[in-house]
Amino acid sequence: MDWGMENRLASLIPDGRCFFLPIDHGYFLGPTRKLEKPGETIKPLLPYADGLFVTRGVLRACVEPTEQTPIILRVSGGTSVIGKDLSHEAVTTSIDDIIRLNVAAVGVSVFIGSDYEHETIMNLANLVNECERYGIPVMAVNAVGKELEKRDARYLSLCTRICAEMGAKVVKTYWCEDFEKVVEGCPVPVVIAGGPKVDSEKEVFEFVHDGIERGAIGLNLGRNVWQHPHPVAMMKALRAIVHDDATVEEAVDIFETSKG
Ligand code: 5RP
Repeated sequence: MDWGMENRLASLIPDGRCFFLPIDHGYFLGPTRKLEKPGETIKPLLPYADGLFVTRGVLRACVEPTEQTPIILRVSGGTSVIGKDLSHEAVTTSIDDIIRLNVAAVGVSVFIGSDYEHETIMNLANLVNECERYGIPVMAVNAVGKELEKRDARYLSLCTRICAEMGAKVVKTYWCEDFEKVVEGCPVPVVIAGGPKVDSEKEVFEFVHDGIERGAIGLNLGRNVWQHPHPVAMMKALRAIVHDDATVEEAVDIFETSKG
């Protein structure tokens, strides 16, 4: 691997583990609850994040150029939650703009099994072709649109493996039962997304802990942090699971102490 590629990956995954903070949801959901003013939402959270997953529009409008948290640029889109088909995505951002923004990585969604499977797999493959030339890692995002019930080990193993085969350096997928099967079939590191907000913080700590124990290298988890009434406490507790191998009980303690 070339120095630039390795350097970018090391900035995002400092100790072999990582906690990415995604705030890209507006690219198809509009002003998602608690992300109406992204700059204000992320300010107290960034010190605990290893990377910020964000579109170029929000990056330029809401994040200071002096910010030191590595950026993962969301570069796919072209659909909305009220449109016909969330899977009908294209790559939205030119390689020139990716380079200009000095990002650590880019992220693109792939919708396996959808009507636009071929197009979204080719979005990933073509992006890898362009980004490899400049040493920029590509994170593939396994996206299921509105069909959240698809998320089982058989389906997610298929998705993650295809993304790795196309050249993704990291694959973001959902946690599921028997998560080790997903990790075992994927030759590149896997990170877990959070999905829609769940009822209790302990539930989040449990699936995150299980996913890490079964081989995920980290998280790309948003709504269960920034839609929570105590987002900083959530960041601290999740960070401890990811980077310090904290147990679920230790994470609960960190959360309770930090929320004040
Ligand atoms: C949405 C995404 C998010 O980055 C991903 O789903 C993680 O966020 P959350 O934990 O809120 O599901 O790709 O566009």
